[in-house]
Amino acid sequence: MKMIEIERALKQLRLSGIRATLETRVLESKTGKLDFMETFSSLIQDELDRRQSSTEERRFKLSGLDERKSFDEFDWGFNPKVPKKPCFELLTLKFISEGLSPIMIGSPGTGKSHLAKAIAYKAIRDGFVVICNEAEDLLAKVATANDVVRKKLMKQIIEADLVVIDDLFLHRKLSDELSQILQSIIHKRYKRRQSTIITSNRIISDWEKLLGDSPMASALKDRLMHRGILLEFEGRSYRLKEAAARLAKADSK
Ligand SMILES: Nc1ncnc2c1ncn2[C@@H]1O[C@H](COP(=O)(O)OP(=O)(O)OP(=O)(O)O)[C@@H](O)[C@H]1O
Ligand SMILES: [Mg+2]
Repeated sequence: MKMIEIERALKQLRLSGIRATLETRVLESKTGKLDFMETFSSLIQDELDRRQSSTEERRFKLSGLDERKSFDEFDWGFNPKVPKKPCFELLTLKFISEGLSPIMIGSPGTGKSHLAKAIAYKAIRDGFVVICNEAEDLLAKVATANDVVRKKLMKQIIEADLVVIDDLFLHRKLSDELSQILQSIIHKRYKRRQSTIITSNRIISDWEKLLGDSPMASALKDRLMHRGILLEFEGRSYRLKEAAARLAKADSK
């Protein structure tokens, strides 16, 4: 086979990882006088790497995660009361197989969403199916879908290995409809022993009121707390720090 025919065959066989590196590997083999098995194993590895990153990319897109946050870029010295050790414990992802649900509560701008997203991103890279959305967006997406789409969405949300419900009650109390969808998600995931991370700047004792005060609201809180890990965030808002830095920069110009 000529090179062009090999490339065509690789395309037909859907071996895009090998196709992308073939020329380089041939050159490497010639110049380095590598034996067949060495070059062949590099090509197989290239294919595996390509597949790994494309499934990871697919899982990332499916998750709804809007940014790739990490623990590295987090300044742990800024708010010393942020629960550092329990957060690192969550980053091991053991809580997912244990079916535990971290609840991150506390003051605005202290890094709850940042760290929850970083954990979600780590879970995606480790092969877990993750859904990570702002609470209102996630619930509204289900509420406004037609029956078929709604069923499909609910199945995805209930079956995911990890669901992150970010910024719960950020703007206001949930409407009855959204509250019921949330309760259904939590209830079903609880029954299946699936993990759910919730972040919110509203204290837990306010939740029943924000959920609409129904008996179901206290049932939801009960389920969450039963297999929950409560993490409390105290401190100054990093947003204000960033805003102050921007103002200072503008002033000095
Ligand atoms: N200690 C920190 N180091 C670096 N960046 C931080 C830190 N804390 C927060 N941030 C950044 O500040 C911004 C606000 O943080 P984040 O959204 O995580 O806060 P939050 O606790 O979820 O607040 P809210 O309750 O308002 O939702 C984000 O861009 C985040 O990356
Ligand atoms: Mg937040």
